[in-house]
Amino acid sequence: MRRATPRRYLMCPPTHFQVTYRINPWMDPAKPVDRVLAVFQWEELRDRYRALGHTVEVLDPLPELPDMVFAANGATVVGGRVLGARFANPERTEEAPAHLAWFRANGFGDVREPEHVNEGEGDFAVTASWILAGQGFRSSPLAHDEAQVFFGRPVISLELTDPRYYHLDTALAVLDDAGDEIMYYPGAFSPTSRDVLARLFPDALLATAEDAAVLGLNAVSDGRNVLLPRAARGLRDPLRARGFEPVPMDVSELHKAGGSVKCCTQELRPAAR
Ligand code: ARG
Repeated sequence: MRRATPRRYLMCPPTHFQVTYRINPWMDPAKPVDRVLAVFQWEELRDRYRALGHTVEVLDPLPELPDMVFAANGATVVGGRVLGARFANPERTEEAPAHLAWFRANGFGDVREPEHVNEGEGDFAVTASWILAGQGFRSSPLAHDEAQVFFGRPVISLELTDPRYYHLDTALAVLDDAGDEIMYYPGAFSPTSRDVLARLFPDALLATAEDAAVLGLNAVSDGRNVLLPRAARGLRDPLRARGFEPVPMDVSELHKAGGSVKCCTQELRPAAR
């Protein structure tokens, strides 16, 4: 049986959540969102983390930033060091300083304002051996080098080619970061990136197109419990077969902006890990 390790997460409530612009193919400003329901679903996610024994810090939401609920995009924290974000789209630019201010006010000493475009954990995923990094739609490949130098860990660049999977965390999730266990959807990556993934992770759980299309890979694992969108039914048995505990969550409203469980959850990795 797998063992969970306690985590510390940063989340931001969807108080001002809306779909008013379109920066990914999931977003349709003509389609109404139910903000009350979004807040309810977000609170369920937050409470589930806490019930599992994890710490959830809360970042104050700002008006005029309807995507700020996707806290994973605001920074990347590895070994207690914080690499801030620089957003690709002007609609989200102002989220980055809000994250930097939170880290500075909360005792994080090593905080870097980045030089190159990177959308935080949207495009960076941390395993035991590597930092996997997405590019193609949002983060710049130059940000991959910047992260490698800043964190002192090998960064593996991966190219995303399907606009529905515009962030790495829409197509790949780390299941066990004490090791190098991941799940991903090969169809989201260029052929050479698929080869790289197959070589580094020969035992990875491969998701079907159906589970990817409900953002099933936008999942958060604590080493045992894997919180994932409820609609990703096909992933549950393969996860159980590997000793993980799938925890289905209903995040249907946030899906309308192209986000799901992982997008709402930034992990604050402490200095020891
Ligand atoms: N509407 C947001 C955007 O397109 C969704 C971000 C989802 N976050 C994520 N980590 N994939 O930027």
